[in-house]
Amino acid sequence: MKIISTIQQMHEYAVRRRHDGDRIGFVPTMGFLHEGHLSLIRKAREENHTLVTSIFVNPTQFGPTEDLESYPRDMERDAALCRDSGVDVLFAPSAEQMYPDGFCTTVHVAGLTDVLCGRSRPGHFDGVTTVVVKLFSIVRPHRTYFGLKDYQQYLVIRRMARDLDLDLEVIGLPIVREDDGLAMSSRNTYLSTEERVSALSLNRSLDAAKRMVASGIRDTKTIEARVRSIIEEEPHTRVDYVQVVNAQDLTPMDHMEEDALLALAVSVGGAKLIDNAILQTGKSEKPLMDSLRHNQN
Ligand code: PAJ
Repeated sequence: MKIISTIQQMHEYAVRRRHDGDRIGFVPTMGFLHEGHLSLIRKAREENHTLVTSIFVNPTQFGPTEDLESYPRDMERDAALCRDSGVDVLFAPSAEQMYPDGFCTTVHVAGLTDVLCGRSRPGHFDGVTTVVVKLFSIVRPHRTYFGLKDYQQYLVIRRMARDLDLDLEVIGLPIVREDDGLAMSSRNTYLSTEERVSALSLNRSLDAAKRMVASGIRDTKTIEARVRSIIEEEPHTRVDYVQVVNAQDLTPMDHMEEDALLALAVSVGGAKLIDNAILQTGKSEKPLMDSLRHNQN
């Protein structure tokens, strides 16, 4: 495995691989890798000749009071995991490489970024889309892999790729959880033992919502209230949002007519956690997960 830290070298490598007819798979990350990241890497390994993973803790997607400084980092361990997972190139640029003096371009996806995490983290998605489009133009992937744990991020990237005619396939893959149901996240490392127990209420509340839908409840306010109360029963939790939205465009829904996304963001102690689930009414024409895998609307 090569470790590349300059944009020029990465770009030259990608152009060479493309010239030789390779299909390049790309998994962008902020490092401190866990099974969630590795599930993307494994799928990308299966589906492409060349596999590039990036590790870059992107400063522009963190708000001024957020955890940029304390975000967990372990490059040695990450590099070993990438090597063991068959990554060909680990691209790990510096912030100076990515944002040299005078950098002043922002990519903004309207609409989809006004809700959920976009509302509670102003500017966050502009940071994400700007860095991701820059990474795409450096790595030149044919296919790129994103986790549906960050469901809104996935939709935003997919929209951007369409709108800008980026010649690549954006693939969304399912949330990977710990055995006890906690969605894997680099930020789980912030949780104390007690907070971790409280954090299990996130997945528990999603399961309760799925059961409500299965029993015929369709009123989204009723579902949201129940989810919120399950989480708020636990100590150390502060709900940022709990919302049932249209799973394709994230618009609000009062009554569930078709498959919906239940998305939530909760601070548990000092850790801001997000999680989500698709609520299936059984009425939708084609299963949502299938359409996400195949990158259609
Ligand atoms: P990061 O949080 O490191 O996540 C990198 C990728 O791993 C994202 O696509 C994310 O959705 C996926 N992922 C994280 N936890 C997961 C889980 N439990 N199951 C499945 N997939 C999971 O997301 C980012 O970095 C950044 O915003 C980035 C896209 C790299 C831009 O800076």
